[in-house]
Amino acid sequence: MVSLRLAPTLPVIFLLMTVEASEAEWSVKYKQRKMCALKGSTVFMNGSYTHPDDLTVNKTFWIIDPIDGVEKPDLSKESDYSGRVEYFTDEQKHFSLKLSKVEKKDEHQYYFRIITNDDKERWLGTPGVPLTVTELRVETPGAVTEGGAAVLKCVTTCSLTAPTFIWYKNGRPLTTKTTINIQLHLQPVGSEDAGSYSCAVNGYQHLPSPNQTLTVRYPPKSVSVSNSSSGEIVEGSSVTLTCSSDGHPPVENYTWFIEGGVSPVGSGHSYSPLQSGSYYCEARNEHGAQRSAPLPVLNGDSTGNIQFHL
Ligand SMILES: *[C@@H]1O[C@H](CO)[C@@H](O)[C@H](O)[C@H]1NC(C)=O
Ligand SMILES: *[C@@H]1O[C@H](CO)[C@@H](O)[C@H](O)[C@H]1NC(C)=O
Ligand SMILES: *[C@@H]1O[C@H](CO)[C@@H](O)[C@H](O)[C@H]1NC(C)=O
Repeated sequence: MVSLRLAPTLPVIFLLMTVEASEAEWSVKYKQRKMCALKGSTVFMNGSYTHPDDLTVNKTFWIIDPIDGVEKPDLSKESDYSGRVEYFTDEQKHFSLKLSKVEKKDEHQYYFRIITNDDKERWLGTPGVPLTVTELRVETPGAVTEGGAAVLKCVTTCSLTAPTFIWYKNGRPLTTKTTINIQLHLQPVGSEDAGSYSCAVNGYQHLPSPNQTLTVRYPPKSVSVSNSSSGEIVEGSSVTLTCSSDGHPPVENYTWFIEGGVSPVGSGHSYSPLQSGSYYCEARNEHGAQRSAPLPVLNGDSTGNIQFHL
C-alpha cells in the first residue's frame, strides 16, 4: 500500500519542476484566438504571460497593428480608443483588455506588449487577437402565402460565441414562436404573422437589428356587405351597398349577386340594387375568393325606390 502511494510522487515533482522551468521563458497566451463582437457591445480579450525570472516588468499594455522597429503607442492613449479601453492584470500574470462601445473601425489585430526594466528585453505577444465587428440583420423571405412556411434569419458577419437570439415583431418580444439558433420558424404562416421583425442577442437587447418586413399574402376574409349611406334610410332615397373585405394583396375584384339568382347582377366595390332581394358580394384576389352573408333590401314604396333594412 505504502509503495503504491509513494510511487507517483516522483513524476509529479518532476512535472512541477518542468512547469517551473518553462515559466522562466517568455510566453504570451491568449484565451481567444480570434474575436467576433457585436457593434456597440463590450469585449474582453484575455490571456496570461510568463517572462524570464531575472527581469522585472515595468509595464504592460496593448497595441494594434505592430510595425517592425516602431514602438507603437499604448492603445489606451490613442484618441480613437479614448475612454473605451481598460486593462486588467493580476499577480498570476493574467491580463485582459476591456474594449467597450465596439465600432466597425476597431477591426484590427490586438497585441499584448510587455516592457521590462531591461531596455533590450521587451516582448510582443504574437500572433495577437484579430477582432471582427458585426451588426445584426434580419433576413425574411419578403412575402409568403398564408398556410405556407417562413424561416427568418438573424444574420451576423462573424460567429458570436454561443449567442441566443431574441426576436421582436412590431417592437414586441416574440415568446411563443420556435427559434432554432439564428432562425425563427413560422409554420403555418397566418395573416397575423405579417409585420416588422427584428432580432437581438440575449443580454444585448439594447442593440437590436433594424426592422425587416414580412408580407403575408392571403385570400379575402371577413367579407361583408354594408349600407354605405350613413344614418337613417329615408323612404324614397336610393341605396348603395358596399362590399368590404380583408385580403392581401387588397381585393380589387368584387362581384354582386342576388340570392336565388344565377348570374351576377353587378361588379365593383359598391352596388345600387334596382329591385328588392337579398344581396351578397364575392371578393376575389389572386389567392382565392370569398362570399359575404346576404343582406336583405326591400322595395320601399310604389315609385320603385328602395328602403334599406338592417
Ligand atoms: C476575461 O476577463 C474578464 C475580467 O478580467 C472577465 O470578467 C471575463 O469573464 C473573462 N472572459 C473570459 C472569456 O475569460
Ligand atoms: C523601468 O523602470 C525603472 C524604474 O521605474 C526605470 O528606471 C527604468 O528606466 C525603466 N526601464 C524601462 C526600459 O522603461
Ligand atoms: C421596429 O418597428 C417597431 C414598430 O413597428 C418599433 O416599435 C421598433 O422600435 C422598431 N425596431 C427597430 C429596431 O427599429
